[in-house]
This record gives sequence, structure tokens and C-alpha cells, in this order.
Amino acid sequence: MMNPFSTLSGSISEAVMQTYIIAMFALVVLGTIIDVVHKKSAQYFFENSRKAKEARIRTLDSAEVRSIVVKTVASDVLTSAEFCNPHRRVAHLLTMYGFIFFLLATVIMVFFYPTSGNATPWLWSFLWYVGALMVCIGGFWFWFFIRVDVSAEGNPWYNLVRADLFILSLLATNLFGLLWSITQASGMSLLGGLFLVLFILSSLVLFGGVLWSKFAHMFFKPAAAIQKRIAEADGSLDNLPEPADRTDPASRDRHSMELLRDAPLNMGLGIKREKPQHY
Ligand code: HEM
Repeated sequence: MMNPFSTLSGSISEAVMQTYIIAMFALVVLGTIIDVVHKKSAQYFFENSRKAKEARIRTLDSAEVRSIVVKTVASDVLTSAEFCNPHRRVAHLLTMYGFIFFLLATVIMVFFYPTSGNATPWLWSFLWYVGALMVCIGGFWFWFFIRVDVSAEGNPWYNLVRADLFILSLLATNLFGLLWSITQASGMSLLGGLFLVLFILSSLVLFGGVLWSKFAHMFFKPAAAIQKRIAEADGSLDNLPEPADRTDPASRDRHSMELLRDAPLNMGLGIKREKPQHY
């Protein structure tokens, strides 16, 4: 397995490749900051946590907060535990870890091993190919079968909406990256050049489109997951009522529970009895 960037350095200088990566990084930072300002999400987040502070029924000490952060990282972030559907969870793990491997290996190869004079340790080129393949497997699985539009709404897979910008540019970047590397290594220079242009364009859309896509969810979701667990632990519960426990007489006799007084405790699967496929 070889480092495709060191082959490319024969025609495009390493300084150009490195500048491109720095520019993409700057676009992501800029897009995320504009997104936060534009949607007023930081303002909402701080107002919400002020309200939560007023509504909390107990104060967490710093050890409890630390333990919530560790639990969130270990569960919601590292294992995508927020997903209830196991297929969506596996597809998310594949795209998330695949993209991290692909990105990390790209940065290492372009900055530390950009020319053939400096032999690339096999691990980085291996991670680059495996990462791109993982994104393709998880991403196409998601695109053709798992997406709500297709699996529950019955829309054909080729219907596009703006919300698809992230998944499609992510898939295109990894797929065209792979195809460019393979064609370049096989000496197909015309096809290699075409895939290289598509690889550059799709990565420009992926990293430059942060403001319009859900790219930034990878930064916001962990913060939201921590906030949610804290709201459960300190009793502020995002201003929602506590889940009713009908085995507790005080809860059972509440006025709003009147219609459920004679209902069995376990009321079965309800709408989860079958998949939502009645279109
Ligand atoms: C490299 C990092 C990541 C990648 C490439 C990635 C990729 C994706 C993709 C492709 C989707 C489906 C997109 C769509 O609906 O158009 C998705 C959804 C989701 N991701 Fe990630 N993700 C990453 C990091 C994270 C992290 C760190 C978290 C949480 C801590 C997270 C939580 C979620 C959740 C909860 C959804 C589904 C909810 C929704 O559709 O809004 N992701 N992610």
C-alpha cells in the first residue's frame, strides 16, 4: 500500500498540498464560528443553562460533573450510544471512525511524508485506505437503506434535499480519493487526473460547506449530550416533567393520570409493534 500524496508530489508541490489542507482547516473553523453566530446557538446554549441552573433541584459537585463528562465521552461520543437503531449506530461508527482515520492519515502523510524521498510507515497509508473504505461502506449503507427518507418515507434514493449535503460530500471525498489513488497507482493518468479534480472539488464542498451542512454536529453533539445528562442528574430536566412512575401512588393518583388508572402497567409495544412503512 502506498502513500498517494508522495506520488502526486511529482506534479503538485508539497507546499501547495500543505497550504490546501491549512485552507480547509481554516474554512471549517470559520464556517463553525459563523454558524454559531448566525443560529445564535451559543446564546441559546448559555440562556438555556442559566434557566437550567434556576430549575435544578440539586447541585452537582465537580466529581459528579467529571464522571458525567467521562460517561458521555465513553458512551455517546466513542460508541454512538445515542442511536437506538443498531444499524444506524453501526453505520455511524463506520463513517465516524473511518473519517477520523482518513483525515489523520492525510494530514500525517502530507505534512511528514509528502515526497517519495521520505518513506511512509505502512500504518499511515493503511489507515488512509481503511478509513476511506469504512466511510464508503457506512455512508452508502446509510444513503441507500437507512436514511429515514428512504426507509420510512418511501422516497427514492436519488431524491436530494439540502440536508444531504454533508453525507454526500463526505462520501464523494472519500470515494474520489480512493479512485484517484487506485487509478494514479495503475498509471491511468487521464482517469487519475479526473478523479483528482473530483476529489479536490468534493473536499472543498465538504469543508467549505460547514455553514449549510451538518458537518459541525461532530462538535455540537458532544456538548448537547453532556448538557442532557447533567439536566437529568441535577433534576432541571430541561423544563420537562419527570417521567411518570405509575407504581408510585402519588404519581398514579395525579389528575393527569386519571384515564390510565385501570390500564395495565405494561401496555405492550404500541407503535413500535411494526416498522413505520405504511406509505
Ligand atoms: C468524524 C466525526 C463524525 C462523522 C463523520 C459523523 C457522520 C454522521 C453522519 C453521516 C450522520 C447522518 C447524517 C445525516 O443525517 O445527513 C450523522 C448523524 C448523527 N451523528 Fe454523527 N458523525 C461524527 C461525529 C459525531 C459525534 C462525535 C456525535 C455525538 C457525540 C455524533 C452524533 C450523531 C447523531 C446523534 C446523529 C443523528 C442525529 C441526526 O440525524 O441529527 N456524530 N453523523
